Amino acid sequence: MPLLIAIDGPAASGKGTLARRLADYYHLPHLDTGLTYRAVAHVLLVNGWPLDDEAHAIEAARRVDLSNLDKHALSAHAVGEAASRVAVISEVRRILVEKQQDFARQPAGAVLDGRDIGTVVCPDADVKLYVTASAEVRAARRLRDIENRGGTADLDDILADIRRRDERDMGRTDSPLRPAVDAHLLDTTEMSIEAAFQAARAIVDGVQAERNDA
Ligand code: DC
Repeated sequence: MPLLIAIDGPAASGKGTLARRLADYYHLPHLDTGLTYRAVAHVLLVNGWPLDDEAHAIEAARRVDLSNLDKHALSAHAVGEAASRVAVISEVRRILVEKQQDFARQPAGAVLDGRDIGTVVCPDADVKLYVTASAEVRAARRLRDIENRGGTADLDDILADIRRRDERDMGRTDSPLRPAVDAHLLDTTEMSIEAAFQAARAIVDGVQAERNDA
């Protein structure tokens, strides 16, 4: 039986790492849907086009190729911030959601992570996780990521960015970030990656056991 796992949560909640670990463990293909919004933002940024330039953003969304997402170029903190701005454009969302749904239809299933996976992209997912952590803990984790990649940043600036991003992602009218009604909530504020992975695995195993009994 295919296994489709939907993971949502705010910026730097740990959902990406969790999604990768679950995909490895259950041998499933994984799509970080944030990269698709980042790819659109990146095209606008490198061309010097404004982030509310809908026509160019829509054209860039059409050209997004899931098999060719340059994770390295797209991982910069500033690209994430820009992605959150292009993500309010409904037509961009419609185009990217269609590509994400194609990815989700694989024989073995898949793991997708993002903001609207359990609510919009894969409302019929077998398991939905909503991963959160306090804004302070997320800012500290983001700063550590930046420093590990050889960069520098100010914790207060990162915290302000994260709060602004939460507001924009949760407050937009089209597909705002929120837990699906049937999502399992996982607050990782006081959890290590390993503990969060074990908790998520227990949830997925529980759902699978129920399915096998049915
Ligand atoms: O997960 P991330 O930080 O790479 O996402 C960057 C931005 O992209 C995020 O702030 C909002 C947008 N996004 C979205 O609107 N829907 C998704 N499924 C994934 C990301």
